Amino acid sequence: MGKKVTVVGAGFYGSTTALRLAEYDIFDTVVLTDIVEGKPEGIALDINQSRPVEGFETKLVGVGGGSYEGTENSDIVVITAGLPRKPGMSRMDLIETNAKIVRSVSEQIAKTSPDAVVIVVSNPLDEMTALTQLATGFPKNRVLGQAGMLDTARFTNNVAEELDVPVSSVRTLTLGSHGDTMVPVPSRCTVDGKPLADLLPAEKVEELVVRTRNGGAEVVALLKTGSAYYAPSAAAARMAKAVAEDSGAVMPVCAWVDGEYGISGVYLGVEAELGATGVRKVVEGDLTDSELADLKQAAEAVRAKQADVADL
Ligand code: LAC
Repeated sequence: MGKKVTVVGAGFYGSTTALRLAEYDIFDTVVLTDIVEGKPEGIALDINQSRPVEGFETKLVGVGGGSYEGTENSDIVVITAGLPRKPGMSRMDLIETNAKIVRSVSEQIAKTSPDAVVIVVSNPLDEMTALTQLATGFPKNRVLGQAGMLDTARFTNNVAEELDVPVSSVRTLTLGSHGDTMVPVPSRCTVDGKPLADLLPAEKVEELVVRTRNGGAEVVALLKTGSAYYAPSAAAARMAKAVAEDSGAVMPVCAWVDGEYGISGVYLGVEAELGATGVRKVVEGDLTDSELADLKQAAEAVRAKQADVADL
């Protein structure tokens, strides 16, 4: 039997993720759910009608009204449910509202898709990932969050624009949290294999780092309603693809850290090898002393907040 993936939440993030997953044409079924009746059904019908044009066979199934019928035994579930930011809001301002939503979604998933790998994208990301693991009771490797892929993509795009080079020639990395304690890792950034530090002055690199850290807010400020979804959905869909194909791809994601980098017991942005079991292992790369210090600081900031979500 082919694979089944469910995307919870038919907002822009959820619907673009569902579209990308369908267009990969590697799943049997993509299920899109929402509390709103008709919206996921309508999006599914619309996307299915694009199949003859784009040439893919994967069928979308829309399930509205908050039902989980049809999602049963999904191999992968992507949780996009929750509110996005408004201009001026931080991701953390969403914590109370989104915790209630994510907890209830997680409880449903635990019942209907007990063997799924769950990819969380709701904000604040690191906290919602930790909450999903608590509320599903799933093994920690089977719950992961999307952030590093997105932040890294933004960093890469910023560098490519600055140097006017193809994005494919640029490698960047961000670790830490999807928030104020995001840790861009300049020592792991290269352009055509050359260290970024040799190509740009330190102040310029710092400017690109700051723009990366504020990448989500920059889009929110322009859109005025809602937050980014094209780059976020691209990142989430690639993670789901790696899990579906059991590919072993190494990606920056929010994963449970258990001793790596001398950090334990927290969901944090790190590089991880993804496969059918979710996170196969956290991959510890070389960091400079100051990058490692920043990562540890990020871990403590996120740990404090993650302790709070247990009661939300
Ligand atoms: C962003 C949101 C989706 O960074 O977290 O755009």
